[in-house]
Amino acid sequence: MRLRSIPGIEEKIKNEFPRIVFFEEEELRDFWPTYFGSLEGITLEIGMGRGQFLNEMRLREPKKKFVAVEMRNEMIYPAARKFGDDCQNVAVISGRADYLSRWFQKESVERIFLNFSDPWPKRAHRKRRLSHENYLKLYRDILIPGGDIFFRTDVASLMEFTLTEMSRCGFSLIDVSLDFHHSKYFDGITTEYEDKKCKDGPIYYAHFILPK
Ligand SMILES: C[S@@+](CC[C@H](N)C(=O)[O-])C[C@H]1O[C@@H](n2cnc3c(N)ncnc32)[C@H](O)[C@@H]1O
Repeated sequence: MRLRSIPGIEEKIKNEFPRIVFFEEEELRDFWPTYFGSLEGITLEIGMGRGQFLNEMRLREPKKKFVAVEMRNEMIYPAARKFGDDCQNVAVISGRADYLSRWFQKESVERIFLNFSDPWPKRAHRKRRLSHENYLKLYRDILIPGGDIFFRTDVASLMEFTLTEMSRCGFSLIDVSLDFHHSKYFDGITTEYEDKKCKDGPIYYAHFILPK
């Protein structure tokens, strides 16, 4: 997603959204029970973008707790404006997914959504893909046994890569669709990127679980 950098965006976020947005360097592992009132049931979206999907989800499931990780403040600002700083069931972390173990206790996350992760097509960049084995090991640590990973992409090669990596890391494939929008799994909640890309071709979808 192409994006112009906005000078002073971090300060703007800190001033306008002091309650719901946190930053990479913060140790948040023990903080969520205080923030949400209990530890159970965190849903995590990694690479949230401008927050369209998460905003729909948190309205549809007001009792669930949602945390988004996004590394670009230019994306976080419009997302935080959608949620509002008084929003009770969302927190946003400005940072790279590499630091998940700083922010979440082991076995504390119920579901992870990876929506339209950057495909990084060059082999030399494959470690940057959010479904690379190195990231999957981090997800495996923070997910509860039986926890879910939901994955969507419009890039066939990333779908293939993800299926292989998930299997190598011990995740079980529960559902898969090569045409998500015309499948029984589609519940009408879309991301901003998905709305653009679904006109050009099929959306691929897979649901994995971490076996108990
Ligand atoms: C192609 S965009 C998709 C955004 C959104 N999920 C959507 O579907 O509209 C990928 C997003 O993932 C974020 N991202 C990529 N790698 C990341 C990482 N390692 N940690 C956190 N966010 C990341 C990017 O900044 C970007 O906002």
